[in-house]
Amino acid sequence: MTRHATGIIILIAVAASIVVGGREISDELIRLPSEASRFFPRGGADVSNDGGDDSVGTRWAVLIAGSSGYWNYRHQSDVCHAYQLLKKGGLKDENIIVFMYDDIALNEENPRPGIIINSPHGDDVYNGVPKDYTGDDVTVSNFFSVILGNKTALTGGSGKVVDSGPNDHIFIYYSDHGGPGVLGMPTSPYMYANDLIDVLKKKHASGTYKSLVFYLEACESGSIFEGLLPEGLNIYATTAANAEESSWGTYCPGEYPSPPEEYETCLGDLYSVAWMEDCDTHNLRTETLRQQYKLVKTRTANDNSAYGSHVMQYGDLALSKDNIYLYMGTNPANDNFTYVDDNFLQPPSKAVNQRDADLLHFWHKFLKAPEGSGRKLEARKQFLEAMSHRMHVDNSMEMIGKLLFGMEKGPEVLKAVRPVGQPLIDDWDCLKTLVRTFETHCGSLSQYGMKHMRSVANICNAGIQKEQMAKASAQACVTIPSSHWSSLSNGFSA
Ligand SMILES: *[C@@H]1O[C@H](CO)[C@@H](O)[C@H](O)[C@H]1NC(C)=O
Ligand SMILES: *[C@@H]1O[C@H](CO)[C@@H](O)[C@H](O)[C@H]1NC(C)=O
Repeated sequence: MTRHATGIIILIAVAASIVVGGREISDELIRLPSEASRFFPRGGADVSNDGGDDSVGTRWAVLIAGSSGYWNYRHQSDVCHAYQLLKKGGLKDENIIVFMYDDIALNEENPRPGIIINSPHGDDVYNGVPKDYTGDDVTVSNFFSVILGNKTALTGGSGKVVDSGPNDHIFIYYSDHGGPGVLGMPTSPYMYANDLIDVLKKKHASGTYKSLVFYLEACESGSIFEGLLPEGLNIYATTAANAEESSWGTYCPGEYPSPPEEYETCLGDLYSVAWMEDCDTHNLRTETLRQQYKLVKTRTANDNSAYGSHVMQYGDLALSKDNIYLYMGTNPANDNFTYVDDNFLQPPSKAVNQRDADLLHFWHKFLKAPEGSGRKLEARKQFLEAMSHRMHVDNSMEMIGKLLFGMEKGPEVLKAVRPVGQPLIDDWDCLKTLVRTFETHCGSLSQYGMKHMRSVANICNAGIQKEQMAKASAQACVTIPSSHWSSLSNGFSA
């Protein structure tokens, strides 16, 4: 009970201090539980306070997990969970398009074959998920074509696209690793922020939606929209992290709450689980996007501990007064659970940095494997390979900085962060060219190496040309490590 009350006080404190773009947003919707009934009468199935016409138009959703590999269990698990809640909310399969590599449920590491869970006591979320784009069909190009509703541009997959009209509402949810200005994919190339924003602008120009909500979980996810997503596109986005910090995995081995004993991997991600567990327990006709944003922000900040991130919002903030129902429908079983009464979701005691979750998996696999077994040797090898790839990427990037800008200034230039509100870079072609140049000489950045995108962007921003970058990269990387992290097997991320 004390915990509950504390949570609500924190929520109100956060509400009072939110300032966006220099304007204080008036907040008449956050109230103490005792006052709540004035705003949300009980049994609120017929309550509508969004002022919009949610009777017209179709709800569409695009759900995408950008990773593969058992150590990334949580991203596909998040996406499966999102499908289940939209389905229960009343969306039809023909309007939900799912991208997932689909190598988890039947993975030999999965202790419950054919089943995926997203929380320690959670039910299976895998059953019934449409396999629209799986394996090598999970590409940036297919993702963009699906959003734009362009069937002729697709390669493989079910052929389902967002065939939306002017009155429709679209929800896009993405979960994976990322880095400044970039989102991961299980295939190459990765997704660059400028290309995603261009697609959203094109979709808007085609007049085929009324409003669009984008929920994004990734490290440095704020950098995908910051200074890039303009107002006026009728798009409201929230991100797991600001432009300069990691996002977090949750329900990881060794944490509380922890996954069932037999799982050696994180089951979910902190921001993702926060919005979905909130949706799972409320009548979404009575909760606005803004209310959810605040709740998720509080839970994901994790008491401002080291194990949390700053959830951000971008785009047309006025849309956040819409009820979630407009985008996700609502589960009739929740009709009597109005928002505010019981909204406090407990933060975990700890969480795991997205970028360390693979190491955590290899480590727990190693610890649990019997002494002298092949499995123990394999886990040890996987752990050491991942560590040595990290050191290689970190050291090469640092060396390149020093070669280009000098011993002292090098690290400074690479780490510089542009002021809030400005994009990471203006010349995205330069970023892609220099990433490719780096990878040609030094091997693939891969999911961990995406963290260095800001360094490469800063090298561009300092006016370095491709030839100079090639020379420095060749000097810094005398050899490319021959593991599967090499760009020879991984392909180029740009
Ligand atoms: C759909 O994609 C194809 C192939 O990329 C392209 O030629 C065509 O112009 C696109 N159609 C629309 C309506 O954008
Ligand atoms: C909600 O409450 C009403 C009144 O108590 C009840 O008739 C109804 O069955 C409840 N709905 C659900 C879904 O539990």
